[in-house]
Amino acid sequence: MPATPVLELRGVDKSFGPVKVLHDVSFTAHAGEVTALVGDNGAGKTTLVKGIGGVHAFDRGVYRFDGRPVRPRSPRDAAALGIEIVHQDLALCENLDIVENMFLGRERSHGIALDEAAMEEAAAATLSRLSVRTVGSVRRRVSELSGGQRQTVAIARAALWDSRLVVLDEPSAALGVAQTQQVLELVRRLADRGLAVVLISHNMNDVFAVSDRVAALYLGRTVAQVRTADVTHRQVVELITSGRSGDLGPRA
Ligand SMILES: Nc1ncnc2c1ncn2[C@@H]1O[C@H](COP(=O)(O)OP(=O)(O)OP(=O)(O)O)[C@@H](O)[C@H]1O
Ligand SMILES: [Mg+2]
Repeated sequence: MPATPVLELRGVDKSFGPVKVLHDVSFTAHAGEVTALVGDNGAGKTTLVKGIGGVHAFDRGVYRFDGRPVRPRSPRDAAALGIEIVHQDLALCENLDIVENMFLGRERSHGIALDEAAMEEAAAATLSRLSVRTVGSVRRRVSELSGGQRQTVAIARAALWDSRLVVLDEPSAALGVAQTQQVLELVRRLADRGLAVVLISHNMNDVFAVSDRVAALYLGRTVAQVRTADVTHRQVVELITSGRSGDLGPRA
């Protein structure tokens, strides 16, 4: 395990107006590992991820990336650091094709014209590097793709850039068995390529199938971050539902 985590958060707070959503949250993610982030609906997972991705700033706490303190103020700032978030709502444009979606807002140009050939080649190369074979042509419109295929495009888009950290907010929530399997394999491949991957999931089978570590949030607080191999399904479910399990979780 590398000494310095790619992502390290310590003592992070976040409020929306009078509502405090994150309390003293600590969280780390390491290169080459999948870290599952679990917690019940409303526990603060998406809020944490949006802070990591520069969608909103944390109110307090330490945010280190590759050991250096950072403060991304926008998704663009975060992307410049190598942070890509695949949001819960995906945010793909239905009326654009796969290549256009993958390069949206970061188009390559050749003089004043878009370099369509280069973008198409890079999109196809990324999909093939990640062994994605289910989408057919990279010129298909996203509106024609299934939920799983869209998820694949969103993840490949995150992997296209020089990413160091990819965060997936519930990638398999609406997927069938076979498509979930494919997305999980893709998640594993990202980590095997040396990225730090954070996977938010409510599905314990997915968490145990693919993660190296699991971090649990309970009512906006970190209650545990442990190696997945050191805990059982039941313990993780207890952490999610009651904020503790045996020796795990804060002392009463
Ligand atoms: N912009 C906002 N303004 C006010 N409250 C918010 C805002 N965003 C989130 N919250 C609140 O913060 C809490 C945590 O929400 P968050 O979306 O982070 O939960 P989550 O763990 O991702 O849940 P889920 O599993 O349902 O996706 C919720 O109580 C939610 O209502
Ligand atoms: Mg959420």
